[in-house]
Amino acid sequence: QVAAASGHTVVLVDQSDEILQKSTKGIEESLKRVTKKKFADKPEAGAEFIEKTLKNLTTSTDAVAVVHSTDLVIEAIVENEKIKNELFKRLDKFAPEHTIFASNTSSLQITQLANSTTRQDRFGGLHFFNPVPMMKLVEVIKTPMTSQKTFESLVDFSKAVGKSPVSCKDTPGFIVNRLLVPYMMEAVRLFERGDASKEDIDVAMKLGAGYPMGPFELLDYVGLDTSKYIIDGWHSLEPSNPLFAPSPLLNKLVEEKKLGKKTGEGFYKYK
Ligand code: 3HC
Repeated sequence: QVAAASGHTVVLVDQSDEILQKSTKGIEESLKRVTKKKFADKPEAGAEFIEKTLKNLTTSTDAVAVVHSTDLVIEAIVENEKIKNELFKRLDKFAPEHTIFASNTSSLQITQLANSTTRQDRFGGLHFFNPVPMMKLVEVIKTPMTSQKTFESLVDFSKAVGKSPVSCKDTPGFIVNRLLVPYMMEAVRLFERGDASKEDIDVAMKLGAGYPMGPFELLDYVGLDTSKYIIDGWHSLEPSNPLFAPSPLLNKLVEEKKLGKKTGEGFYKYK
């Protein structure tokens, strides 16, 4: 959405036409929200902006078929290293020499993903934040193998889509998630111990620390499955780090398919 809205030609790739239709509808809805604010007193210009943005966007279920004419691949599939590696390995064979590969992974090592390709120097991380149309930050991750030229291209691209990039090393969680995920897990542990209700913890962090959402609202917003993938991955890397300890309550909710806002229930119920 943000790439198309800033004039880039985008092919959105997913597994089925059904998912792609749902995604396109989500983009249309989000564009309406953005436009309502941006073109508050010029509805015609707003409608034109939406039309132009959607013209820049096509969809496909065949990544290999479209990668030959792609300058930049931004992968944002399931948070599973093996599946990501398989995809990158396949795309590497069909992508042009100059094409840069980037992952939007929240928690996996970019270096490991780059190693599944032959273009380690043209590989980096581009980590966006939910909701992407609103959050101004992009973390640009440079591995020891990422060339300076690639890093600069990723920084330039982030600016071209209207974001503010920061530079990160390839360390677990980069900057934001390394701070945010342990904080949210500490909130869950506080609740699990019975020290405070989840409602009070959310109110406390909003009114006492000025956060726009409380930790439980944010966990539901990000997705409990995504949060669990992140913490489980870090726990396996550093089992003795108490900040990375899994939470029985989070595990239970994920097992019950209560994944947050997207499934209608997580820590809270929606609708
Ligand atoms: N698309 C377009 N516009 C959107 C939007 C979307 N998906 N979501 C919200 N907005 C717009 C609304 O239209 C609204 O615009 P308006 O001011 O013109 O009415 C504006 O944002 C504010 O929205 P709301 O009034 O509905 O609610 P809030 O004032 O609470 O703002 C929020 C919503 C921007 C999501 C704010 O609550 C917030 O900043 N929350 C914290 C988000 C955060 O921490 N994100 C990081 C998560 S971690 C992550 O993503 C990393 C990953 O690796 C796990």
